[in-house]
Amino acid sequence: MVATQPNSSSATPSVNGTGRRETILTPRFYTTDFDAMATMDITAHQADYEAMLQEFKADYNRKHFVRDDEFRQSWDHLDPEIQESFRVFLEGSCTSEFSGFLLYKEIAVRLKERNPLVAEIFSLMSRDEARHAGFLNKAMPDFHLQLDLSTLSKTKKYVYFEPKFIFYATYLSEKIGYWRYIKIHQHLAAHPEHRIYPLFKFFESWCQDENRHGDFCNLLLRSQPKNIEGWQANFWSRFFLLSVFATMYLNDICIRSSFYEAIGMDTRQYVEVVLKETNRESAKAFPLVLDLDNPEFWERLRCCEEPMTRIAALQQSELPQWQKALRKLPSQAAIAGHFLRLFLMKAVPAPKGVAH
Ligand SMILES: [Fe+2]
Ligand SMILES: [Fe+2]
Repeated sequence: MVATQPNSSSATPSVNGTGRRETILTPRFYTTDFDAMATMDITAHQADYEAMLQEFKADYNRKHFVRDDEFRQSWDHLDPEIQESFRVFLEGSCTSEFSGFLLYKEIAVRLKERNPLVAEIFSLMSRDEARHAGFLNKAMPDFHLQLDLSTLSKTKKYVYFEPKFIFYATYLSEKIGYWRYIKIHQHLAAHPEHRIYPLFKFFESWCQDENRHGDFCNLLLRSQPKNIEGWQANFWSRFFLLSVFATMYLNDICIRSSFYEAIGMDTRQYVEVVLKETNRESAKAFPLVLDLDNPEFWERLRCCEEPMTRIAALQQSELPQWQKALRKLPSQAAIAGHFLRLFLMKAVPAPKGVAH
């Protein structure tokens, strides 16, 4: 459970996987059809995969994630609300990184014999994600919080996605991760007075890891053309873009905005620029992207904020589960209605020759 009494060094809240509060925006853990992934034919793109492997082997951030002297101090002087917003950020980010680690590691193990080149790249990506999760995990005690990752991995429910959906979802989550980290880095480089905790100075190199991961996921999509051709690809591109974008929007605006404000950012501006950059870049991977210049896109997301806040409040309440579920229904229906309309909005075809 996430702490609500942050400013006491004697109380170290434990987030152990069993007492953890879940929201509809809590990061998920994924599993897939490993046999189908193992039998993927990559011969037409063998050289691209070999080049990608060399990039990962170079291990540019081997010595990057080391806590230096700047961490060796108390952070209790920070406002209790800021400390709580850091806990929410750290818990969400660490869980996402750890979820990536588990998935990539499992793929690497299962593909090792039958698709060794792809398996080795996944293994090196899991190395990166383990570093990221570990580094965030080490920051938690600075805010009197602990997350037991080994217990979390055993108690989490896993969601099954077929391989092509894993590639869509991981491509987007890696690229959005890249843009999130780089935009925070750029903001704090321009406004160093807001760098109130040393974790942020690691973001510039960190985001390059996520960028490489995203490029590899793009290669996985491109090397299996059926993944990105035809009406189904159009449908799933829309679906994943909208799901990932709406999740980030609602998470950041409704749950994490105090974190961004604590480091001097305008949350709405930040979300808008991250989504626009990720959408623009996704045209290199998907046959179409969303029209984020259409004001209706932002208006409909804004309409989802109130029902989302109501759902989050109910989730945190002490009501019995059945009452929570019942009371959430009207808000969930309102959000579903907006999502449907967003899904049906006119999309923007990717320029030909960019994606393939
Ligand atoms: Fe990562
Ligand atoms: Fe990553």
